[in-house]
Amino acid sequence: MKRSFDNVHGTGESVLASLMITTNVLIAGKRFVVAGYGYCGRGLARKAKGLGARVIVTEVDPRRALEAHMDGFDVMPMDAAAACGEIFVTMTGDVGVIGERHFPLMRDGAILANAGHFNVEIDLDRLRALAGAAEQRDGIETFTLGDRHIHVLAEGRLVNLATPKGMGHPIEVMDLSFAVQALSAEYIVRHGRDLPGGVYEVPTTIDEAVAREKLASLGIAIDSLTDEQARYLSAWDVGT
Ligand SMILES: NC(=O)c1ccc[n+]([C@@H]2O[C@H](COP(=O)([O-])OP(=O)(O)OC[C@H]3O[C@@H](n4cnc5c(N)ncnc54)[C@H](O)[C@@H]3O)[C@@H](O)[C@H]2O)c1
Repeated sequence: MKRSFDNVHGTGESVLASLMITTNVLIAGKRFVVAGYGYCGRGLARKAKGLGARVIVTEVDPRRALEAHMDGFDVMPMDAAAACGEIFVTMTGDVGVIGERHFPLMRDGAILANAGHFNVEIDLDRLRALAGAAEQRDGIETFTLGDRHIHVLAEGRLVNLATPKGMGHPIEVMDLSFAVQALSAEYIVRHGRDLPGGVYEVPTTIDEAVAREKLASLGIAIDSLTDEQARYLSAWDVGT
């Protein structure tokens, strides 16, 4: 209930909103590179495609790369994407996704943003070493490499939060994450003493309870399993 909504829809929408309000660039027709096709990346890729962008995905996980390909996106290494992309957004949780060898390949006017981890996904130290000081304006740093300009948003920090007008996710999606966090905290208070130290997935009962509340708040009803259906679905000795 966190990743499928906050990451997919919240990050997908708020990254685009920040990018557009900060740069006033037209998304339609742009070669839009999304680094990482996880929950955040697939949300952004689909929404950018909805605005008419020509989306390119970079990945390191072969299953996610294949998923992006079959979802209709171009998939290629960053070495290739760097040379043709016009807008880049990293959302991998990894370091140095756009680094020293990529900057010299980029087109004039390339826009770089990060929405993943801190300010480590774009190697700005290397960009500064290559290009020197940047010209700064309203959340945009413009670096000059020879006759080309590379624009970096929000100092490479989370673009949906760190640009001057970045507002983060809409509350309609954050309520799900906050509900999961509050109920998980309550769960720990009630059951924590019985749990060995470690990292646990949120219990399914909490996830489902939050989903049901959200559906109810939206006035959406769904079906329930009959006893026969529940038995059938959990059986291994009936059916083909
Ligand atoms: N900006 C926000 O508001 C916001 C919200 C939620 C999550 N996040 C952050 O976004 C990041 C991604 O979250 P997620 O839920 O999509 O994670 P995820 O694990 O589902 O996806 C990350 C993807 O990046 C890929 N990847 C890793 N290293 C890569 C590399 N060098 N090049 C290309 N792809 C690479 C992984 O294979 C994976 O498919 C995390 O850092 C998370 O903390 C940001």
